[in-house]
Amino acid sequence: MKFSNILVPLALASSVAAFPNWRDWHGAGPAWHGKGCLTQADADDIVAKFISILDHPDVDAANATAQALIGPDFFEKSDSINMLAGHPVGAVTFSGKAKYIQGVLLAPSITNITTYKTLVAGCTNVLWYWNMAGIGSKTIPVNGFNLFEITADKQIADMFVEFNNVGWGIDTGFTVFSRNGTKLPLA
Ligand SMILES: *[C@@H]1O[C@H](CO)[C@@H](O)[C@H](O)[C@H]1NC(C)=O
Ligand SMILES: *[C@@H]1O[C@H](CO)[C@@H](O)[C@H](O)[C@H]1NC(C)=O
Ligand SMILES: *[C@@H]1O[C@H](CO)[C@@H](O)[C@H](O)[C@H]1NC(C)=O
Repeated sequence: MKFSNILVPLALASSVAAFPNWRDWHGAGPAWHGKGCLTQADADDIVAKFISILDHPDVDAANATAQALIGPDFFEKSDSINMLAGHPVGAVTFSGKAKYIQGVLLAPSITNITTYKTLVAGCTNVLWYWNMAGIGSKTIPVNGFNLFEITADKQIADMFVEFNNVGWGIDTGFTVFSRNGTKLPLA
């Protein structure tokens, strides 16, 4: 497994789109008008469904969940992944609902995902602070954050993801050295 798990679909991303507009953080967009805000229960539900897609013990069930959860104009942006996958820094990392879902479902399961915190942020966003201990060689348990922007239909419009990519790289076969040539991790 060279470039395992969620990096697989990302490596297949064909083109680099322009930086998308960052929707208004502090209030609901027009489609949300009159629909209130996300609740903590909504946020917990979205994260639980997202984890079940990454894990996908039953691919058909995960597919049904993914079709319902992922919005039609889905994209993902992550310099942590861009650096590992060889995409330009600042690029949109992955774009397209159908391709994203296929990529995740056809890649190996990501097991042993732990949620540290799930927060509703700015009414229409969910911030998820996580650990993934089941990546590749499992040498480094990887901590990271996903910032999901959620549509008024409670789908994931897009997500911004940053994590310990040195650790993920080591788990998936990268060799990383410190300044004096000592192999990481140092501890
Ligand atoms: C998931 O569902 C879509 C839509 O029904 C289908 O095209 C796709 O092949 C399914 N993917 C997998 C991995 O089963
Ligand atoms: C899951 O990960 C935690 C570290 O985050 C580790 O302590 C535990 O042993 C792992 N469990 C399995 C089943 O791999
Ligand atoms: C290299 O640097 C690390 C700290 O960055 C230190 O722990 C290690 O002892 C150093 N090794 C040598 C051979 O100097």
